[in-house]
Amino acid sequence: MARKFFVGGNFKMNGSKASIKQIVESLNAAELPTDVEIVIAPPALYLHWAHDHLKDTKVELAAQNAFPKDNGAYTGEIAAPQIKDVGATWVILGHSERRTIIKESDEFVADKTKHVLEHDLGVILCIGETLEERDAGMTLEVCNRQLDAVCDVIKDWSRIVVAYEPVWAIGTGLAATPDDAQFTHHEIRKHLTEKLGEEQANSIRIIYGGSVNGKNAASFNACADIDGYLVGGASLKPEFIDIVNSRQ
Ligand code: PGA
Repeated sequence: MARKFFVGGNFKMNGSKASIKQIVESLNAAELPTDVEIVIAPPALYLHWAHDHLKDTKVELAAQNAFPKDNGAYTGEIAAPQIKDVGATWVILGHSERRTIIKESDEFVADKTKHVLEHDLGVILCIGETLEERDAGMTLEVCNRQLDAVCDVIKDWSRIVVAYEPVWAIGTGLAATPDDAQFTHHEIRKHLTEKLGEEQANSIRIIYGGSVNGKNAASFNACADIDGYLVGGASLKPEFIDIVNSRQ
């Protein structure tokens, strides 16, 4: 079965009621392709707001994080049932900004992934190496280690989208080249084949993230293992719609 193209917009800690309403309204007004899964991730505070303004059911909402408990004394955290309650259907987990700045471990990310899936939410699972790790030739080792932590606890990956996001490409304007990205995506799929079997590995979307914009998105069109994008900075701009349409 063909893998449905997937474009996610990660707003990170950006936006206000006014700017998020404007982005949502521009998505409402745009002619969006039906063969692309489109998910935007505003800050948790604005999920409800975005949901209230979204008219196009083709666009889904993601939280940028979740805590692996249903409720309780976890000051500042947000729970999967709350994410669902405000209308989101996805959660981004393992983003490098959380792995590096907040020091989330592979095991913690895996634990969160398991918990979120149990609540019937989809997971955009981010993996990727730092510049230091890349220079040391450790790209695949790092990606495989981050994937293995999740493989250890999850056997059914049907609601996981893997986002390969080399840390050196995030927010730097230096996207990976299509050849480089395709090579790593192919190796990631090969590794998932070993861990989960060919059928499942072939059905998992592996999307690329790191300085994707309206101009460079189509340059990845020939990459057989790139099934979409996770977009940061450009998801706050009108060019996000060009990225959504980049395969058309
Ligand atoms: P960027 O971020 O598009 O701004 O590089 C991507 C991401 O962090 O998901």
